Amino acid sequence: MQATETNAAAGEETARVFFAIWPDATAQQQLAGLAQQLETVCGGRKTRTENIHLTLVFLGEVASERLDALQLAVKDIKAQAFDFAVEEIRYWKHNRIAYAGTSRPPPQLLHLVSALQNNLAAAGFAFDRQTLYMPHITLLRKAACHTLPELAEPIVWPVREWMLVKSAQVNGRSAYLPLGRWPLA
Ligand code: 2AM
Repeated sequence: MQATETNAAAGEETARVFFAIWPDATAQQQLAGLAQQLETVCGGRKTRTENIHLTLVFLGEVASERLDALQLAVKDIKAQAFDFAVEEIRYWKHNRIAYAGTSRPPPQLLHLVSALQNNLAAAGFAFDRQTLYMPHITLLRKAACHTLPELAEPIVWPVREWMLVKSAQVNGRSAYLPLGRWPLA
């Protein structure tokens, strides 16, 4: 999908944005430990601790003047709180990403993603609509994994809010800046 072509006209000022959830401090540290462990096994470059997140919907470049409309499009979504449990470590050879995830996504998470997709489509926003949403938390890029560590036990955190996040380059590094956050009931 060419989000840049559909959420902004040529020459417009844009922001690279996505909806996501963030682990709480404990899970963030556990996931960072896992990233460190994976880096030792697979090489590559681990995600910085504060950047570890789970993407819900990725929009790509959106015209800055449409960001208010974007927030308006999703603000009335009603979704339920849930616990997210990371149960497995996997590796995508095609893009050399090692990630944490689950093969049993909670129904509340799937509902939130569908609600976002429906509202965004209704408001005329283009996004990467995967045929099947598979939650993944990127831990390592440019990885070459031949074996993967087993998780001793799931990493679980309570998900109580979701966010709209802007991806920016700060001092040559990716930084994620929250533009909006909404509670789960
Ligand atoms: P990744 O970690 O697999 O690269 C910010 O870039 C977030 O949006 C990351 O979680 C990233 O996933 C995701 N992302 C980037 N490009 C994407 C795309 N074309 N489709 C879906 N998600 C994307």
